[in-house]
Amino acid sequence: MGIGVVSAETVPIFLMHMVRLLMVCLGNICRSPMAEGILRHKAQERGIDIEHDSCGTSNYHIAEAPDDRAVDKMAQYGIDISDLRARQFKSKDFDEFDRIYVMDQSNYRDVIRMADSEEKKAKVKMILNEIHPGSDSPVPDPWFGGMDGFESVYQLLELSCDKILDHVK
Ligand code: 4NP
Repeated sequence: MGIGVVSAETVPIFLMHMVRLLMVCLGNICRSPMAEGILRHKAQERGIDIEHDSCGTSNYHIAEAPDDRAVDKMAQYGIDISDLRARQFKSKDFDEFDRIYVMDQSNYRDVIRMADSEEKKAKVKMILNEIHPGSDSPVPDPWFGGMDGFESVYQLLELSCDKILDHVK
């Protein structure tokens, strides 16, 4: 038997390198840092090695810490995201991450617009499709509302991150 040549397409991502997951929203101070915090926490709990980051499609809050309401909500669940800092999505993220999870259709459009190949476009996924496949439903933006909005964001992201990690392990 000869030595087989294994192409990148035939090797699952997790066998080539640690899977690299990017969470994206508009401001990178509410939904995506919450998603990254939940993912980081759950991966640690489950003993799964991943690379993770989050960013925003806008430049509104670059270098800022997450919104206090997001930090407080996450702390209620024992997760500290106060160390995270906002940055803006950039084209290079398509090369540096295997999967790019966006929170809503507006994020999706903004990210897809920057993709210059089908391979890059295929990396972009609506995060709630993890729990409601094919629904393309949004994680509602909690920025203008009260703590209730942050609670429902937490609940949706918690379920979604579990599913994401189920595929990785
Ligand atoms: P995020 O929420 O996209 O979940 O971080 C927002 C934060 C800030 C703004 C909008 C949404 N803003 O317009 O400044």
